[in-house]
Amino acid sequence: MILETAKLDWRDGQPVNEQFQDIYFSADGDQEVARVFLAPSDFQERTQTENQLTVAEFGFGSGRNFLNAASVALANGCRLHFISVEAHPIADGELLRALEPTEHRDLALELSCHYPPPIAGWHRRTFANGRLVLSLYFGDVHDFLHELEERHPHGVDAWFLDGFAPDRNPDMWDESLLRRLGKISRLKATVATFTAAGRVRRALESAGFQMRRVDQRPHKRESLAGRLNAGAGRKPSAPPGHVHVVGAGIAGCSLATHLADAGIDVLLTDTASGPATGASSVVAMQHARLLGDGSPMAEWRAASYQYATHWNWHRQSVRRLGALQGTGPNMDEAKLKRIVRAYEGSGSWLQLHEDTHLWFPEAGVVDLAKLCHELIDHERIECRFNTDLGTELPTIYACGAQTPELSCFENLPIRPVWGQIDIVKPRSFSDHAEIGNGYLAPAEEGLIVGSTYEYAPWAADEATAKNLERLQGSDYRWLCRRRGVRAVPSDRTPLVGRYNGRWISAGHGSMGATSAYLSAAVITHMMMGWIPPIAASVERLLDPHRFEKRLSRRSNGR
Ligand SMILES: Cc1cc2nc3c(=O)[nH]c(=O)nc-3n(C[C@H](O)[C@H](O)[C@H](O)COP(=O)(O)OP(=O)(O)OC[C@H]3O[C@@H](n4cnc5c(N)ncnc54)[C@H](O)[C@@H]3O)c2cc1C
Ligand SMILES: C[S@@+](CC[C@H](N)C(=O)[O-])C[C@H]1O[C@@H](n2cnc3c(N)ncnc32)[C@H](O)[C@@H]1O
Repeated sequence: MILETAKLDWRDGQPVNEQFQDIYFSADGDQEVARVFLAPSDFQERTQTENQLTVAEFGFGSGRNFLNAASVALANGCRLHFISVEAHPIADGELLRALEPTEHRDLALELSCHYPPPIAGWHRRTFANGRLVLSLYFGDVHDFLHELEERHPHGVDAWFLDGFAPDRNPDMWDESLLRRLGKISRLKATVATFTAAGRVRRALESAGFQMRRVDQRPHKRESLAGRLNAGAGRKPSAPPGHVHVVGAGIAGCSLATHLADAGIDVLLTDTASGPATGASSVVAMQHARLLGDGSPMAEWRAASYQYATHWNWHRQSVRRLGALQGTGPNMDEAKLKRIVRAYEGSGSWLQLHEDTHLWFPEAGVVDLAKLCHELIDHERIECRFNTDLGTELPTIYACGAQTPELSCFENLPIRPVWGQIDIVKPRSFSDHAEIGNGYLAPAEEGLIVGSTYEYAPWAADEATAKNLERLQGSDYRWLCRRRGVRAVPSDRTPLVGRYNGRWISAGHGSMGATSAYLSAAVITHMMMGWIPPIAASVERLLDPHRFEKRLSRRSNGR
């Protein structure tokens, strides 16, 4: 679902929300955040003594609270997970303007550059080499709180309640909502809000917070702050300090980086041949095969693509060039129109080109082997490539097509499908990629022509001949080829999550160059006790136990 963006009225350079007839913050923006939210939450002190804090906010608005909290946390060497909700996102073209003036311009620029499209549901963004994680829920605050109750065992350290004024937006201050905050809080959690309304104070007291009034003169009279009563709240969950990732393809390498960024030490192992020698030895498209039919699979495809473009934005081995996708065997005109309708109004990430093609301006071509090497160059990742190592550490398996060869995964319906890309030097080619039943993508080393889909391995020359059919009539010089084996599950959906006490990210099939990163984020969040950055329906879609569950439903006649 596409959300309606906020209608802003600009008064003296400040955004005012037309629907609620209220301001987002006072004229002294950043100072107000410090006065109303950070100081009453002892944020400076806590970020100096804690390694990691979780803030949950009602009302993301322009993200000014996020920017200020993030800057304090970064300066003090504390990792921050900032979770927020927004029902009416500010259109991305207006976000930066809404944040002016700010002391945190660089981060504001980065935020506006990576601001998610207004698609309902979870969006994950990271900044400062993964030290800042933003989990942004686009939707209503009631659903947001329900999501946290059900899916965020870690709990919240600090609440920032920042809906518009209670008399203009009573829904955001619903007492039944506020009373539930205590149960999702960690020990010693704090709450801060700009309002001083008595009913808000009473609701927070009944949630278990000891509330006090904070003097805000001369700006306004007072605001509210509180701390959870001693002994109440969730005990700190203990994420693992050290993890073993088996398999150094793109699934394993992106997992290692996500975990390391979250402060977890990683042992990454593969066979003697080293990293990226399986399917991840190819050059591949980072692009989305969209469905636009409202299904969890459609949501997964769009979300994993959007996350991939964000997460790989600054990587050397990803070349952003844009991709044009027309009709073909997997995309008739009706499907193309359905996709366009499904994402209409969600921003510039997907565009209709000349009424006949989808245009993905941020799509790119990825040298997966180079990317794997780039990702594992991290101080918290230790690599060992010449040993079949067993450890006592919590283990995540990212073994691609070899997954069913491991006895713990032998029942998983994953089959190998071989494939090849060929690289040629054409006399001329456009500067963007063309996607159809395969792809033509101008990469650094030449034009990538791919790819074959072989249920049993073909001879390499036969595969080259098949690929080069795509270039019939054009002038080129053949350079080389790369082959790999895809891991294709029977339902062509990756397996991401826990399976009989082990963790797995596998079965990325033909889309691992796009799906590996959000999969890595999902597992990292699960291990940290954080809410996974996908809908519960998508989590079920990826659940590695789904095949057994389906079988058992069938045998029970359902
Ligand atoms: C020709 C071709 C073209 C493709 N084009 C695209 C594309 O355009 N876009 C796209 O998104 N995707 C594409 N793909 C798919 C993509 O390459 C894969 O989905 C992705 O690389 C899978 O990554 P992985 O890490 O899961 O598996 P792999 O890269 O296969 O990595 C698995 C690793 O696990 C290791 N391993 C296995 N067993 C063990 C063990 N017991 N102990 C230690 N290590 C072990 C292996 O040695 C290997 O390094 C293409 C694939 C091919 C073959
Ligand atoms: C005062 S502004 C938040 C300012 C913000 N914290 C900042 O740093 O810019 C309140 C925000 O709450 C959002 N909002 C209002 N009602 C909501 C609801 N029911 N669910 C989720 N968000 C809502 C508004 O769209 C608005 O962006």
